[in-house]
Amino acid sequence: MTPVERQPRITVTIDDNLYLGREGQTILDLARENGARIPTLCFTQQLKPLGACRMCVVDVEGTPTPVTACTAKAADGMVVRTQTPALEKLRRETLKMILLRHPLNCAACEINGTCELQDLAHRYDITDYDLRSYNVPPLEYAPAPWATPLIQYHPTRCILCGRCVEACLELGEVGAINFKGRGANTIIAPAQPSETFKPECTSCGECMAICPANALTEAMGKPHGKPWETKKVKTVCSYCGCGCEMELNVVRNEIVGVTPSRTGVNQGALCVKGRFGYHFVNHKDRLKSPLIKRNGYFEEANWDEALNYAADRLAEIRRKHGAEALAGLSSARCANEDNYVFQKMFRGVLGTNNVDHCARL
Ligand code: SF4
Ligand code: SF4
Ligand code: SF4
Ligand code: FES
Repeated sequence: MTPVERQPRITVTIDDNLYLGREGQTILDLARENGARIPTLCFTQQLKPLGACRMCVVDVEGTPTPVTACTAKAADGMVVRTQTPALEKLRRETLKMILLRHPLNCAACEINGTCELQDLAHRYDITDYDLRSYNVPPLEYAPAPWATPLIQYHPTRCILCGRCVEACLELGEVGAINFKGRGANTIIAPAQPSETFKPECTSCGECMAICPANALTEAMGKPHGKPWETKKVKTVCSYCGCGCEMELNVVRNEIVGVTPSRTGVNQGALCVKGRFGYHFVNHKDRLKSPLIKRNGYFEEANWDEALNYAADRLAEIRRKHGAEALAGLSSARCANEDNYVFQKMFRGVLGTNNVDHCARL
């Protein structure tokens, strides 16, 4: 029996249907397991529930006001309603308040088509016209720095859901960012260091990846292509031996971003190198053929020329100065098999144990 199977059972009525649940389950979890469509915005499976947006409100019999289904625990005998006209009206008004902070210019946004906020605006049929009656002038924000220069923060898009703050704590285990200010002037900003806690952003990008409103973007990246013109190419990060799985986002034959894989060893996480270090692939200065230095200048060569040149020089040094005058340094970015063959060549063919690997640095 798994720990989940050992949990005591409860019965809960949701929208007139009786369901069997597990003690400790939230109403949202139980409802979704059984196919109910409760809208959410701040909730994501990757984090503990935040209870910030109030889009998931439901009625619980005997409770005077609606409760947030993502945080409220289901209990034995509970009677829950998820789809009354009053709840839908409340969710629509809540969403309008959220959208007062976020421009509805989806056509100009890179995540147009894969945006959770846009999906909700569509579900509740909210357009600019619905927001005009509030007569709130567009809010202006001074440019706000993020905890790392690799990420750009767009306060005018930020809906203050808090996902980034929690992701930095839970997934990145850092706590480098937090809410700052009050009311309409609240933004997310680098956390203030205290005497006992000096947060240091590791540029992992977890905050950016989890933002549902495109309020965090790559500072050095180009605007990403539209989802429908982006080809996803599954691959493994080549920077170190962890083997994190990822998808390269390719638009018109150019890599414009990286999406981590949720199924690989990395479980959706990447470090700064894997997430942001893809620009070298299309960089104009990238070496695409071997170079041989002749008369003090590097000249392009083909692989046969380069390999013959290297072999001749290795043999010459060995003949003149002995095998101990040679050393080989391999790379963590090569496959294990390549590194095995490399050390075998130095030990077995050239006769020296002077062989090392950049991963030891
Ligand atoms: S990049 Fe990582 S460490 Fe830095 S603020 Fe974002 S989640 Fe926190
Ligand atoms: S930056 Fe994104 S994740 Fe963070 S609070 Fe704003 S909308 Fe939410
Ligand atoms: S993302 Fe970072 S940890 Fe993962 S394989 Fe690449 S370099 Fe290694
Ligand atoms: S999804 Fe439940 S409060 Fe945001």
